[in-house]
Amino acid sequence: MSADEDIRKNIKELKREKDVVIVAHNYQTGLIQDIGDYVGDSFGLAQKVNEMDVSNVVFCGVDFMAESAAILNPDKNVIHPEPESRCPMAAMVDMDELKSYKEKNPDTAIVSYVNTNVETKARSDICCTSSNAVKVVRSVDEEKVLFLPDKNLGRYIKRFIDDKEVEVWEGYCGTHDDITAADVKGLKDEHPDAEVVVHPECRPEVIDIADYAESTAGILNRAKESDVDEMIIGTEKEMGYRLRKEVKDKEFYFPGDPTCQNMKKITPEKVLRSLETLEPVVEIEDEVAERALKPLEKMVDLGRG
Ligand code: 13P
Ligand code: SF4
Repeated sequence: MSADEDIRKNIKELKREKDVVIVAHNYQTGLIQDIGDYVGDSFGLAQKVNEMDVSNVVFCGVDFMAESAAILNPDKNVIHPEPESRCPMAAMVDMDELKSYKEKNPDTAIVSYVNTNVETKARSDICCTSSNAVKVVRSVDEEKVLFLPDKNLGRYIKRFIDDKEVEVWEGYCGTHDDITAADVKGLKDEHPDAEVVVHPECRPEVIDIADYAESTAGILNRAKESDVDEMIIGTEKEMGYRLRKEVKDKEFYFPGDPTCQNMKKITPEKVLRSLETLEPVVEIEDEVAERALKPLEKMVDLGRG
């Protein structure tokens, strides 16, 4: 038996023995996607963990995803196999800067992308994911909105909002910001009939030449619905594993080699260890978790956009 088969077998057995489910983001490696009981985008993962009647959830994704699940489900043990798997964009909000912005702009709604740390969420009015960002911004009563931290998603939202002033923080995701319009155009030249679907964390000039901008779940849905034979996908490369596994009648091309190294810090060995020990559990201070809960609940309650 190969090492991979061995680990799959051990994980399967441990899952049967213990009251535990494994959830995984679409950017996890193929083996981890395969052992996941549920694989999805940030919104789907948050929603799914809420619905699960289970004591222990092994969360294969980056820090903010596991933290959000833990805040929304204080009665469940959310286990993050590698706490160092962190989204760099989530750390791009300086707390002093945000505090002083709020003092100077008390009538501005703070809308934070779920890719933020807990302290930022606790200081926000509502959170959103890429699948409901426009809907969330439309939902707030205030005429002025500060969207943080992703400048690319923020600028994308602004395309659809004409009755509010939307100010955008200067954060970004390196993995998506590095996808160039030139690389996408190069692939379009090679595959002129391909449909182009990109994540809204991409730069505006990349979104401009795309047919659709979608969350990772939206990209998968588009691939299932579309009747084209070829698609150019502007997001993290492991999305290709999910697409090729579930949509067999299409070819998928990725511009460059977009990789989120932090997602890859979750390895099958670490997942196995977490199943054996049911650790490390995500721990968040009660006071900050309570304040972060409301904006997260509002996000889930609003549903997808
Ligand atoms: P999704 O919510 O679309 O899965 O995106 C999460 C993310 O981190 C994209 O980089
Ligand atoms: Fe964060 Fe970008 Fe990785 Fe998504 S792809 S988790 S935004 S660093």
